[in-house]
Amino acid sequence: MTGIALRAEALRRVFSSPAGDVVACDGIDLELRTGELLVVRGASGAGKTTLLNLLGTLDTPTSGRVMLGDVDTTGLTEAELAPLRRENLGFVFQSFGLIPVLSARENVELPLRIAGVDASERDERTQHALQLVGLAGHSEQRPSELSGGQQQRVGIARAIVSRPRILIADEPTGQLDSRTAATIMDLLGELAHQQGLAAIVSTHDPLLVARADRVVEIHDGRIAATSAAAAGSESAAGAKSAAGVASAASAPPAPDSGSAAAPTTGVPLTRAELRRRTGL
Ligand SMILES: Nc1ncnc2c1ncn2[C@@H]1O[C@H](COP(=O)(O)OP(=O)(O)OP(=O)(O)O)[C@@H](O)[C@H]1O
Ligand SMILES: [Mg+2]
Repeated sequence: MTGIALRAEALRRVFSSPAGDVVACDGIDLELRTGELLVVRGASGAGKTTLLNLLGTLDTPTSGRVMLGDVDTTGLTEAELAPLRRENLGFVFQSFGLIPVLSARENVELPLRIAGVDASERDERTQHALQLVGLAGHSEQRPSELSGGQQQRVGIARAIVSRPRILIADEPTGQLDSRTAATIMDLLGELAHQQGLAAIVSTHDPLLVARADRVVEIHDGRIAATSAAAAGSESAAGAKSAAGVASAASAPPAPDSGSAAAPTTGVPLTRAELRRRTGL
């Protein structure tokens, strides 16, 4: 499948605070194409997270709209958005978001369990996702027994196991050393080009930008520049069919586990935070 997977139109988000209004997203128009790795770059506070949260329908714009494929998400209720997210979006987080007591395999499998996928299909899809991220040999290790880069690969496998069309990753390499970060960005590029995912990834690391098909530079909530990067743009144009990546979910702890542990800190998550992190 080729085409526009996600589109932002005149997207604006204003936060009210005691010190005054903050315009964190100030009229952004953006298209994310199937099979491309789009990097959103910008300084701290530029509005990257705000934009990705809006694109992922985790936050509601003050004005403007987000189109998920052909679906206008404007005005949809949470109950209407949740299945749309499950079918279309996978989320990857800076802090990996893994459940510490579960093995890599169990972490990746979790969204499929929640979606009620039967055991044999769960096994097959989980193994395939772990293979895609190069972790087939580590499936029984817990997060604490894996390196940071391996943990993020588990996070990516979990985000793609439900076969989303779109992958949204907010600073997925922020906790990794630069070499490991580069391998994770390469992996995200491979997933876009070879699996036909539309991937949007934020970073402020200039070294990672060269791996993108396209780079959008954000400054004060606005697009300051857009450029095709040196790497791989022909791959985006020739992206393979998304037949294998058609429906989806992100990577949630069980929906009824409102006090599930935050993997990196051990601090209990509130339901709202859980929803924010998982998109469910
Ligand atoms: N919930 C909120 N309430 C008030 N202001 C907010 C809120 N969330 C973000 N902002 C403000 O919006 C602006 C953009 O923040 P955002 O988190 O999107 O930046 P960022 O580019 O992701 O930064 P970083 O690289 O540090 O993660 C900042 O000025 C921030 O203080
Ligand atoms: Mg941010």
